[in-house]
Amino acid sequence: MAQLKIVNYPDPVLLTVARPVGPDEFGPHLDKLVSDMFETMASARGVGLAAPQVGVSKRLFVMDVPNESGESDRRVLINPQIVHYEGEQVGDEGCLSFPGLYQVVKREARVIVRAQDTFGNEIEVDKTALAARCILHETDHCDGIVFLDRMTALKRELAKRKIKQLQKTGEWK
Ligand code: NI
Repeated sequence: MAQLKIVNYPDPVLLTVARPVGPDEFGPHLDKLVSDMFETMASARGVGLAAPQVGVSKRLFVMDVPNESGESDRRVLINPQIVHYEGEQVGDEGCLSFPGLYQVVKREARVIVRAQDTFGNEIEVDKTALAARCILHETDHCDGIVFLDRMTALKRELAKRKIKQLQKTGEWK
């Protein structure tokens, strides 16, 4: 396994719609990317990481939002598609491509997502709470959408101002 470099906003790859993972892309090369992404996410202490965040413009992400018993729940979702969502949750959100920035974001409370696993098999995942928030956030990354775009206009302006300050002091690369 190897650690990958996480790109920060406003790297163009984060603002680009990623392309689907094709049927002949499944195999050792993809498995390596996935295990490297898990390692990169764990060392950055994140709960989700999408391929565009490591500079790979493909529609896939990894996540590990612990279940109610606090156990690890590692998931790989390739070519994710949200097929159902309902309810609403309001809470703090962060992103590994926005180091140190946390902001309140409104999201749906429950999602059902259809995707493929690393073997190319179709899977369906049904989640609520933080796991649902994570799935929505990471699926957005596949669409070139960052959590800044999901904030209210006022919070987005505050966030952008803070990023500018951090860029000036060199804390944001
Ligand atoms: Ni993110």
